[in-house]
Amino acid sequence: MTKKGRVFSGARPTGRQHLGNYMGAIQNYVALQGEYDCIYCIVDLHALTTLETTLDLKQNTYEMALDWLAAGIRPEESIIFIQSHVPQVTELHTILSMVTPLGKLTDLPTFKDKVREQPHNVNYGLLGYPVLMTADIVLYKAGAVPVGVDQAPHLEFARETVRSFNYHYNTNVLIEPQMKVTQVPKVIGIDGQQKMSKSLNNHIELASTAKETEQRVMQMVTDPQRQRRSDPGNPDICNVFAFHKVFSSPEEVATVNTECRRAGIGCVDCKRMMARNLNQHLEPFRERRQQIAGNPDQVWAILDDGAQRARAIAEATMQEVRAAVGLA
Ligand code: TRP
Repeated sequence: MTKKGRVFSGARPTGRQHLGNYMGAIQNYVALQGEYDCIYCIVDLHALTTLETTLDLKQNTYEMALDWLAAGIRPEESIIFIQSHVPQVTELHTILSMVTPLGKLTDLPTFKDKVREQPHNVNYGLLGYPVLMTADIVLYKAGAVPVGVDQAPHLEFARETVRSFNYHYNTNVLIEPQMKVTQVPKVIGIDGQQKMSKSLNNHIELASTAKETEQRVMQMVTDPQRQRRSDPGNPDICNVFAFHKVFSSPEEVATVNTECRRAGIGCVDCKRMMARNLNQHLEPFRERRQQIAGNPDQVWAILDDGAQRARAIAEATMQEVRAAVGLA
């Protein structure tokens, strides 16, 4: 089957993935494989921009790769690799930096956020983050980049950088990527308030056991206005209901919706149902994960093979880039 084009996406190695990563990115990565040639990258160099220590970097890379594979990324069909294993990306980063006005980088809202978050560590890599991301995408001539809406400024930056490069060197070797916004509602953590994230410890890990998952679900904050079991609830403002919509059958969603509103079921019942459905959904994932984890060498071999295939594409692009720039 001929595919529609090439997709590239990257994520920082954050270790074991949680439901937010799964619903926000991984499920989409898996689904795109049928339609596109997909390249999925673990961006370890980008991770260096914010890490205070790299002691866990390798383990986090491994755990994330394991989760991606268990979730259904197919290495026979897609390329999955570690960013730093294709050093051409750093060369392209340097070349692209010459057509990047400094002011554009300092103006980016994502850079300003980081300055606020880590004022003690405003390093040069942080400023160049979007240039490296652009290099990731254009090195593989990706037409489409599936990312969350928070990455829109980076994608726009990438497109502008491609135009500047092509204009400056009077060439068309680089391709302007299209952003493919992942259409998922923001996944709220078990606190019922903030976006699910590991650092806030409001997450549910995909690799947790069924029992641990149920315990996490039972801690979830529900409709904050429902005080007593006898109060009618409002599913529209309940985070547990948002999860039902993803993991429960349409019939059960309808039941929860009506029964909650007339206090026919309580939050405990509702969460038990959700936990059961979530566990059922994750069961095949857990089995596969356990199976793959039995052979860590195999995971590293998959990543090596991915890097080899990625390097072939990257080197071909770099030959064109070097020629266009006039590097001998
Ligand atoms: N900046 C992205 C993020 O924080 C990660 C990333 C790096 C990426 N390189 C990329 C995403 C290339 C898409 C394409 O989520």
